[in-house]
Amino acid sequence: MATLTNAPPPYDTLLCGATLIDGTGTNAYVADVAIKGNRIAAIGELKSARTAEELDVAGLYIAPGFIDTHTHDDQACMSDKHMEPKISQGVTTVVVGNCGVSLAPLDHPQEVPEPINLLGSPSDFRYGDFQSYFDAVDSSKPITNVVALIGHSSLRVAAMRDVDRLAQPGEINTMTQMVDEGMKSGASGLSSGVFYQIGSAADNSEIIPLIKSTAEHGGIYASHMRNEHEGVLDAMREVFEAARVGGTPLLISHHKCAGKKNWGRSKETLALFDSVRMSQDVSVDMYPYEAASSVLNPDLVGEETPILITWSTPHPRTSGRYLRDIAQEWHCGEKEAARKLSPAGACYFFMSEDDIERIIQHPSTMIGSDGLPMDEHPHPRLWGTFPRVIRRYAIQRELFSIEEAIRKMTSLPASRFGLRSRGTLKHGFCADLVVFDPSEVADTATYQEPKQVASGINMVFVNGRLSWDGKSCVNGGFGHLLRSEGRIP
Ligand code: ZN
Ligand code: CU
Repeated sequence: MATLTNAPPPYDTLLCGATLIDGTGTNAYVADVAIKGNRIAAIGELKSARTAEELDVAGLYIAPGFIDTHTHDDQACMSDKHMEPKISQGVTTVVVGNCGVSLAPLDHPQEVPEPINLLGSPSDFRYGDFQSYFDAVDSSKPITNVVALIGHSSLRVAAMRDVDRLAQPGEINTMTQMVDEGMKSGASGLSSGVFYQIGSAADNSEIIPLIKSTAEHGGIYASHMRNEHEGVLDAMREVFEAARVGGTPLLISHHKCAGKKNWGRSKETLALFDSVRMSQDVSVDMYPYEAASSVLNPDLVGEETPILITWSTPHPRTSGRYLRDIAQEWHCGEKEAARKLSPAGACYFFMSEDDIERIIQHPSTMIGSDGLPMDEHPHPRLWGTFPRVIRRYAIQRELFSIEEAIRKMTSLPASRFGLRSRGTLKHGFCADLVVFDPSEVADTATYQEPKQVASGINMVFVNGRLSWDGKSCVNGGFGHLLRSEGRIP
């Protein structure tokens, strides 16, 4: 028996006595969780098991690490060792490359047009192909895992001389090869953002060949649609068709009905979504706030809804101030002030709480922060999205159970992005875990004070290793690029 007792303990870490929310949406239950290496080694009554380390977490909840389906952390995941806005919320995987913009395949481009400039400074663009970007992500040892999408607008800048027109057949061919390289190297799908100027000349005749190439590798197509205002239904029909003909699952990014005139129309958008869902693999993601955030676009100025400046290159001291106040001070109209402030970023308060509640309750809706880590005065979604869904929408508004809130952040996105061994608390699955206090968990970031750590997130494990201890990043560097495991070989 001596050999047995001298043997190393079977577990590295034992989390004892917590309530488990397993990510599938089924009812929470009390059990112990054992971690060995990067995996969940056992779940059950394990108090007498031998372990290198034991943590008493009675009274707390354990959930799978949150998957942030919509981020622009392409550069931040490498240059910000701690990614405190994300890890402090319980996020263990970020999906980068959204809205049509990705760092690759752009190697010192002559110009970094909007909104590609949201990702970082011009010198951050130094990856001529996806393989070199993915190698850089892995060797930077990010604190969270990374799932990468290929940005259609970045392909356009790389493959076309003039992005103000539809791509020609030769250019489409070049972009198709870029998609193929990206997918073979480990991307999980394609994203587009034809809402933005650099993508807007493209239509489905340009995008469908790229989606087909994505489909050959089992990827997903995520779309920041052409229109989220009056034309939202037509925009939805456009992307449904693209994904159906192209042959991929579809993800509508940050779904919303923007602009006062459209408030309440989520009834129509979700009805259309549900009718298509009968025959097509479709889903949406959203962030739980009434303001959007992106580059400042003077064309979006003029609605009665307020606009908050998040950064401005010519007038950096205006970040955190309302456009209305700046315009008054400058004795000019808001549109003119917006032009003077550009290039700049902004929060647009143009959504209704009713629509947010209707969309967030939908069973196909996932949670994506859309946080902009490079912004001077960021939208609070960067720091608060996930705890806010639990606190505000599950606990306070009781729109759904905490179990359902967690499902939207874990097993649902894991299945959408082909992450077969994540998103659920299950024996043998990767040990991405969040330990949180249900009585404390809440977002604290506000539009006025956006850089605030959420409360109630006590521990976060990434690939079996403690990375957030409730106050700070303890270690970090255990994340890596996740290649879709559900992929057709
Ligand atoms: Zn977007
Ligand atoms: Cu986005």
